[in-house]
Amino acid sequence: MIEKTMETTVQLGDGVKMPLFGLGLFSSAPGDETYNAARYALEAGYKLMDTAAYYANEESLGKAVRDSGAGREKLFITTKMWPVDYSDPKAACMDSLKKLGMDYIDLYLMHWPGTDAERRKKVWNAMLELREKGYVRACGVSNFYSEMIEELISDSGVVPQNHQIELHPWIQQRKMRAYCAEKGITVTSWGPIFHGHLSEAPLMEEIGKKHGKTAAQATLRWHLQQDINLIPKSVKKQRIIENAAIFDFSLDEEDMRRIGELDGMGQAFTFDPLVYDGEGRPPRMDPKQKGLL
Ligand SMILES: NC(=O)c1ccc[n+]([C@@H]2O[C@H](COP(=O)([O-])OP(=O)(O)OC[C@H]3O[C@@H](n4cnc5c(N)ncnc54)[C@H](OP(=O)(O)O)[C@@H]3O)[C@@H](O)[C@H]2O)c1
Repeated sequence: MIEKTMETTVQLGDGVKMPLFGLGLFSSAPGDETYNAARYALEAGYKLMDTAAYYANEESLGKAVRDSGAGREKLFITTKMWPVDYSDPKAACMDSLKKLGMDYIDLYLMHWPGTDAERRKKVWNAMLELREKGYVRACGVSNFYSEMIEELISDSGVVPQNHQIELHPWIQQRKMRAYCAEKGITVTSWGPIFHGHLSEAPLMEEIGKKHGKTAAQATLRWHLQQDINLIPKSVKKQRIIENAAIFDFSLDEEDMRRIGELDGMGQAFTFDPLVYDGEGRPPRMDPKQKGLL
């Protein structure tokens, strides 16, 4: 189990390989904060960067990649389209490419399903066209219910290559992971270290200490041992380095069992895709009520 490295990839089908581990950039401010975070991560050997049009930091990431000399082709860039742009997906993609200063995106995600099923299908088909034309190497979705993914598959005949969902020990997404495994859809966890609430899960610190590691490292290792793609966010150099130091130890069965018991025992931070259309900030959803657990 300790053989994984920062270079380890998962197959997205069609020969596209996605690094298992990368840097998340949500709430990383455009400008110096994102630029520096990306530079620290590239120096530390990160190969995957996860941004979005919604984060407004694609330009800073692109500049960091160019200035680092890391080599675009050696990196994997994920970005996402937000519902305000669903009326013209091609323009949204071109805008992201322009901001990134890149000529292709490795993984392009429909960031939020929105409440209109017909619109989702149109956007998905447009994304597949972008893939066809070489602007995008792989297409996926984020924050979808399985029924919403089924609709896309029956309409287009094409299975999304990745599903990015809130996933951490408090919301382990067993049903969604089983569904994705059955369909051959890889899964990425967002909020992998409790979306900023790590200190409220004392078990992670206890398990970390047992292995001479931090609470963040124990949590990230839990994802890694289940082959779930993980994109922890930090803008701090020391934490960016710390979060990547998870390839030299293993959690044992007892650790995995105890963390497994945290499912449903804390908060979830996502919204309900059946009521939220991507504008403003609605109340948080109850994951138990929505059958996510
Ligand atoms: N698809 C979606 O809808 C969606 C939604 C949310 C997030 N995401 C993606 O997933 C990525 C990760 O999720 P997230 O940013 O929500 O949450 P996260 O990675 O679980 O947690 C980030 C928080 O933890 C802190 N942190 C980082 N490393 C730490 C460490 N070693 N010890 C203690 N605290 C630490 C960060 O603060 P500092 O920065 O101050 O270190 C930040 O407050 C995002 O950045 C984004 O790329 C996607």
